[in-house]
Amino acid sequence: MSPVPDGLTEPVPTTAELRQSLPLVTVRDLRVAYGDGPLVLDGVDLDLRPGEVVALLGSSGSGKSTLMRSLTGFAPVTSGAVRVAGYDVANLQRGQLRHLRASVGQVFQQFNLIGRLSVLTNVLTGALHDAGPLNLVGGFTGAHRRRALQLLDRVGIAHKADEQARSLSGGQQQRVAIARALMQRPALILADEPVASLDPRLSHTVLELLQRIAREDGIPVLVSLHVLPLALTHSDRIVGLRHGRMVVSGQTAALDAAVLQSIYDHDGEADDVDHVA
Ligand SMILES: Nc1ncnc2c1ncn2[C@@H]1O[C@H](COP(=O)(O)OP(=O)(O)O)[C@@H](O)[C@H]1O
Ligand SMILES: [Mg+2]
Repeated sequence: MSPVPDGLTEPVPTTAELRQSLPLVTVRDLRVAYGDGPLVLDGVDLDLRPGEVVALLGSSGSGKSTLMRSLTGFAPVTSGAVRVAGYDVANLQRGQLRHLRASVGQVFQQFNLIGRLSVLTNVLTGALHDAGPLNLVGGFTGAHRRRALQLLDRVGIAHKADEQARSLSGGQQQRVAIARALMQRPALILADEPVASLDPRLSHTVLELLQRIAREDGIPVLVSLHVLPLALTHSDRIVGLRHGRMVVSGQTAALDAAVLQSIYDHDGEADDVDHVA
């Protein structure tokens, strides 16, 4: 905080402090329907602030991926407001879509690496949007390469830089995908079921890495998970969707088990109940 100027009783926040406290993502009363189909999101609100990890929970088909897609202009918004990093996503101006997508780092369940290319080249593809037209192998600058190596070091696999991406384990591939997302210098990271293909131990290490990035870089992370215990240990807040409606939204530490259970269908598959165990 800055010193208190004469005549004011409250310290005036600095620009940096203000930026930290303002939501980078604001979603209000969002409704989404594909084509003539039913609403798959119906009245969803979401705020994401710098540095926080928000877990998106819900059964398969509850709308988690659609909500993530709505933040990058990939979902057919029927009504409501979607603001991401200053962009009015539901009413983008010409040419803004590319800039919006360049500022959102994405991590997916299946890692989505190019398996025959090296780990380093995969990370470099995160910089494609600011490198201009080029071929994947020759067109990056020395600065790009140094940054990609630094990011690989940060996610703990710099020693794999020259190996083919497909030769790495699942946990290592997801680290590469996270480094690739960071290469974009993202304002926001969306991770859609990033640990669904990983065993529990690796799931924890990948989620810890995302939490660390959120804290250290001040980047908000929205991470969808379908296993509740992982959300309880690795998120600041939880948003729960059920059939496209937001049934839970709150600080992770303040939510009780009964509330969280309302995310899942009690008459649905038996394993939904296990999510709370
Ligand atoms: N491209 C699409 N066209 C039509 N329906 C879709 C499309 N994508 C998703 N849906 C439907 O929207 C609902 C929500 O899906 P989704 O967002 O993928 O949920 P989740 O990620 O929670 O599994 C589901 O009923 C699904 O069938
Ligand atoms: Mg999904």
